[in-house]
Amino acid sequence: SALGARARSACLTGGPVPRRLFASYPQTKTYFPHFDLHPGSAHLRTHGAKVVAALGDAVKSIDNISGALAKLSELHAYVLRVDPVNFKLLSHCLLVTVASHFPADFTADAHTAWDKFLSIVSCILTEKYR
Ligand code: HEM
Repeated sequence: SALGARARSACLTGGPVPRRLFASYPQTKTYFPHFDLHPGSAHLRTHGAKVVAALGDAVKSIDNISGALAKLSELHAYVLRVDPVNFKLLSHCLLVTVASHFPADFTADAHTAWDKFLSIVSCILTEKYR
């Protein structure tokens, strides 16, 4: 979406999103002991770009998101073992960040669409746990 493209170009995922996530929910930092977690660090920017690229793949395969994210689903469930609750926290921080950066574009419809999209992605990335 246009809002997605602007979120990407504003580098939200390398800066403000992890900043909010780690400040509001410090327990999420435990998954990244090997990262430099200072706002805007090279680790965060590189990782943020990967996460956004994955979200972009999901958008491109909107009718087969689980296919597009199959490898990532296995990674998060079997290798990283990220507790599913963290996906809600990250999604919330993404939503708040997009809303605060683009208030005029963050209509009720945009809010609903982002919320729905992020819940679907989170479900898929945690479905292998069951
Ligand atoms: C790695 C996407 C949620 C923790 C990754 C990678 C991607 C990704 C694309 C890189 C995989 C690779 O290098 O092959 C996503 C998406 C998420 C999400 C789209 C939800 C929208 C989370 C959450 C956590 C988490 C909630 C924990 C709080 C990690 C960790 C790595 C990783 C620890 C490995 C980092 C490294 O050592 O490079 N994720 N992720 N992810 N993710 Fe996620």
